[in-house]
Amino acid sequence: MKWTACKIKQLKGKQKIVCLTAYDYSTARIVDAAGVQLILVGDSLAMTMLGYETTLPVTMVEMLQHTAAVVRGTKEALVVADMPFMSYQASIEQGLANAGRFIKRAGAGAVKIEGGAFRAPLIKALVENGIPVLGHIGLTPQSIREMGGYKVQGRRNADARKLIRDAVAIQKAGVFAIVVECVPESLGRDVTKAVKVPVIGIGAGKYCDGQILVSHDLLGLFSDFTPKFAKRYVDLGSAMKEAFESYKCDVETGIFPSKEHCF
Ligand code: KIV
Repeated sequence: MKWTACKIKQLKGKQKIVCLTAYDYSTARIVDAAGVQLILVGDSLAMTMLGYETTLPVTMVEMLQHTAAVVRGTKEALVVADMPFMSYQASIEQGLANAGRFIKRAGAGAVKIEGGAFRAPLIKALVENGIPVLGHIGLTPQSIREMGGYKVQGRRNADARKLIRDAVAIQKAGVFAIVVECVPESLGRDVTKAVKVPVIGIGAGKYCDGQILVSHDLLGLFSDFTPKFAKRYVDLGSAMKEAFESYKCDVETGIFPSKEHCF
């Protein structure tokens, strides 16, 4: 079954929604085969794939290329393209044009946009023009310079109330689901209760309608920075290093290539 924004929206209250990031064709194939419903081509690829310190430098050209590769590797999951920093902030027209490139050129099924109530006009314009939008509130890494670091959001009552107002405002503007990042578990629960669209948590506790993780964190492939909320399911980094070392040893000692690898 092919997942669409509409179908994901209908899962609220019925089953937990499972989401992961992927940035390339081969990983997308595996994530898709595992039955994950939503694959996000996150701008986190700036850090995990391109080695930048933040998500800010990644460009539209890079995001389009990775999104197209993920789309080629995906049969069933909904592929959501993350709109990079400054690809939609300047104006509604800029946001519409760039979101359109993700849908038309890369084949994405939806785009993700960071920001609360102040983003409602852009979200409304995108949805009215046929582009499904995944919202993203709480810790929004594109605002890292303004937020002053990767900190838990909404700890104070006033901030928590504002976050709920933001969720309601972007729901009204037409998002099909909302990512809520790095907030206390009780706030994750309250936001989930406050809206009719699914809330996808990342560091937002167990009461959300679904969860998303950066696949590199889950696989143990990115050790520069591991957030408290990330669960590592396997240490692929160490397994890869061991494999590379074995190969090196085999080449140096003449074990590889052996007869079976030769013509
Ligand atoms: O870029 C990303 O991977 C994200 C997720 C952490 C939600 O925005």
